[in-house]
Amino acid sequence: MTAASEPRPRLVYADKIILAPMVRIGTLPMRLLALDYGADIVYTEELIDWKLLRCVRRENDVLKTVDYIDKTDGTVVFRTCARERDRVVLQLGSCDAGRALRVARLVESDVAGIDLNMGCPRRFSVLGGMGAALLGQPEKASGMLRGLVEGLSIPVTCKIRVLPSLEATLELCDTLASSGIAAIAVHGRTIDERPQHANRNYVLKKIAEHLSIPVIANGGSKEIEKREDIFRFKQDTHCSSVMIARSAEWNCSIFRSTEMLPMEQVIRDYLKLAVDYDNSPSNTKYCVQNILRELQESPLGKRFLETQTLEQICEVWSMDNYCRAKTQEYRVKGFQGRFEVAP
Ligand code: FNR
Repeated sequence: MTAASEPRPRLVYADKIILAPMVRIGTLPMRLLALDYGADIVYTEELIDWKLLRCVRRENDVLKTVDYIDKTDGTVVFRTCARERDRVVLQLGSCDAGRALRVARLVESDVAGIDLNMGCPRRFSVLGGMGAALLGQPEKASGMLRGLVEGLSIPVTCKIRVLPSLEATLELCDTLASSGIAAIAVHGRTIDERPQHANRNYVLKKIAEHLSIPVIANGGSKEIEKREDIFRFKQDTHCSSVMIARSAEWNCSIFRSTEMLPMEQVIRDYLKLAVDYDNSPSNTKYCVQNILRELQESPLGKRFLETQTLEQICEVWSMDNYCRAKTQEYRVKGFQGRFEVAP
């Protein structure tokens, strides 16, 4: 995978089923799993601008990935590969137009789109002027988006939450859409609402009817347990596309056009990708924990919770032979599982 920019198809956001951005869940193995199962577009977890600016870009010839590696501690901040290049959207956490554009230019050749997170209500984001803080500064947010739209060759989107009033939400959407963004993802809850609150599907419908760009409906996982529910959510909201977070976190095979797979199969499919892409044990464990959920209390779950290495995690699902063979293959090719980065 090279940065050489041969002409690429421009990502289209209409009529798509999309993996939502999810911190620690939306790393490379989960994104590839979602694509394998049938997702059209996958968003990365939110990546904070200054963290990416601290990175160097390295092509990993053994894993066949592009890695953005933190210069200070050698950790992989963002790993991607050719298989997702035309369908992955990198979500940025930023409060600064200049920084956002610098980061977006850094990764532009490796991703299909850039998204600005405007919905995150976490204290860390809001106090830093990022995420949901931008909902209260539509002109600033629109300026940041315009800067990205004008400075990049790939499409730009943003992901927002609804505001308490419909009028204010539509006004916000108008301001943001005037920046030239290609689509807008809307989570139908306000900053103060939690997952147990009903998603405001009627507001999503009004936005979809109001805007001319594709609107991506989000927030429906509470009612999405199988494939048909995705289409019901789409129909209820009149939105062009649907973006799924928690239902995919729990069972990523929700993206399959045929029946969903049992949890064990999803875990095994996920672990194969985690091994293939040398995902960190801690991130792998976190993702599997979120698939297992209450089953962590079962004997198998308890055995799993004691694991520390990728091989030990794989052993719980009888995949330790695969893990060892792959690790050995990578070692022979000269990859030790971690980069040495010159300071
Ligand atoms: C999220 N969400 C989120 N949103 C975002 O814009 N950037 C992010 O990095 C994250 N991270 C994240 C992590 C986890 C574990 C969850 C469950 C959620 C919010 C998410 O994208 C989505 O807006 C909500 O979960 C509502 O959609 P669902 O879950 O009803 O499909």
